[in-house]
Amino acid sequence: MKQVTISLDGVRDKNIMQLKKLNVTLFPVRYNDKYYADALASGDFTKLAYYSDICVGAIACRVEKKETGAVCIYIMTLGVLAPYRGLGIGTKLLNHVIDLCSKQNISEIYLHVQTNNDEAISFYKKFGFEITDTIKNYYSNITPPDCYVVKKSFPQTQAKK
Ligand code: ACO
Repeated sequence: MKQVTISLDGVRDKNIMQLKKLNVTLFPVRYNDKYYADALASGDFTKLAYYSDICVGAIACRVEKKETGAVCIYIMTLGVLAPYRGLGIGTKLLNHVIDLCSKQNISEIYLHVQTNNDEAISFYKKFGFEITDTIKNYYSNITPPDCYVVKKSFPQTQAKK
């Protein structure tokens, strides 16, 4: 049998439509222009996943600066089209972002997930993420309207003196 390759590609003006199409199919929320501007601005932290030459998933992140000056990554969306789930594509996308955080000495990755999304919650827990908070009525158009804040912190390596 022919081996199928799963590859990741960056998001640019020319292929941002792929991310828009995926989001319409995957999520009950409509994303605004700021979401797409943040995704483009995040550089390598936003990736499309290809199953052979078909775009089937994406991770889109925003780079945030905390009051302390520390940089953290907010995962705005992570999704894989249903027929392509369970093939390791979500793992490849999330590991890519985790590896970049480790290399760039970023202290934390966090995200919001709807409280009834058991599959996504157990997926993130496998990678060392923990539920740190619940926000009531976070979403205005979907039920349940509540979300969990899910976080992974990285031990900070000291800068050399
Ligand atoms: N049934 C049961 N378990 C599954 C399934 C499935 N269909 N798919 C994945 N898993 C579990 C498996 O236990 C697997 O572990 P294993 O590798 O040890 O077998 C683990 O998840 C990882 O599987 P992957 O194949 O790497 O993940 P996948 O490509 O399926 O993507 C994702 C996981 C992104 C959560 C996917 O289910 C999805 O797109 N869901 C809908 C969108 C969504 O809810 N996204 C997260 C919302 S929160 C946010 O975006 C910030």
